[in-house]
Amino acid sequence: MIPAVDNPEHKTIDSITMTKPDNDFQSGFPLVRGRRNRLHPGRRMMVAEHRLSLSDFIAPLFVTEGKEVKEPIASMPDYFRLSPDLAVRQAAMLHELGIPAVLLFVKVPEAKKDNEGTEALNENGLIQTVVKRMKEAVPGLVLMTDVALDPYSSYGHDGIVRDGEIVNDETVDVLARMAVSHARAGADYVAPSDMMDGRIGEIRRALEANGLYNTGILAYSAKYASGFYGPFRDALDSKPGFGDKKSYQMDPANVAEAVKEAQMDEAEGADMVMVKPGLPYLDVVRAVKKQVQVPVAVYNVSGEYAMIKAAAEKGLLDEDQAVMESLLAFKRAGADVIATYWAEKAARLLEQTK
Ligand code: PBG
Repeated sequence: MIPAVDNPEHKTIDSITMTKPDNDFQSGFPLVRGRRNRLHPGRRMMVAEHRLSLSDFIAPLFVTEGKEVKEPIASMPDYFRLSPDLAVRQAAMLHELGIPAVLLFVKVPEAKKDNEGTEALNENGLIQTVVKRMKEAVPGLVLMTDVALDPYSSYGHDGIVRDGEIVNDETVDVLARMAVSHARAGADYVAPSDMMDGRIGEIRRALEANGLYNTGILAYSAKYASGFYGPFRDALDSKPGFGDKKSYQMDPANVAEAVKEAQMDEAEGADMVMVKPGLPYLDVVRAVKKQVQVPVAVYNVSGEYAMIKAAAEKGLLDEDQAVMESLLAFKRAGADVIATYWAEKAARLLEQTK
């Protein structure tokens, strides 16, 4: 390489003309300057197009058997599995903070798992018990319950397994019964996360047939077969025992299909539809929002939580800033509600900046 000074082609800064030709890009500058609205916090606050608020959040809770149990989850630092007594206390605290809803998941002991999800229908099962106690202790909190077989399945699949296949209609029948038992215990919304076909309609019919017309359905309509669920499966000990979930969860390549699933669920009686995971699927949130009339929720899943935690622990980024920025991205994409493990943190940060 010829050094710049010896290069006859090289021109020094003096040779660059700094006088501007007449506004030849039609940019409006300098009459138009974007930075005027960014100059000061008050100006920025006034022109912010989207805002996070406490009312946006659903806080997932992992419940395990026992008393006074608070178990760390290796892949989800600072998140815990709680026994019913502590889960109720946590729910009361979240309600006090102003978070409107919790989404309940249970960790079922191995001995209570089978292929048909028998334990899921136990009237005095863990989820039914927690829902009853929580409703009694914190009546103002919206209780949402996970409806799927994987925590109860000896195969770790969301449906019943026959000859290596996850069978649809037989599973839907169990899911509908499960939904009724959650609703009877006091759930405000049942949240089917299984991706079986036709389950929203069957659940709706079962709820109506049992007089549970006030129980809502939060449908996981576009749930993708994602690599971001790993930490959650750790939390509930619900890894699939064989194969993967691609025969029921969606292909990450698809977006028109997500819209179709959401529209079908809306037609079958879903009161809210959900897109999951969140951050890698913001385009899907936007597409679904445009095509349905019911509120759209997004699930900021366990792997998304773990990524920020891991990076922050290494000092690679600022956790609080990364969290609030990603939550705001969901609002920008069009989400009405955000299920997130950051709910408590975000609520506290929002309170501080009030
Ligand atoms: C299973 C279920 C999963 C999640 C919610 N419900 C995992 C899966 O489908 O394997 C994932 C939530 C998360 O990763 O935060 N019915």
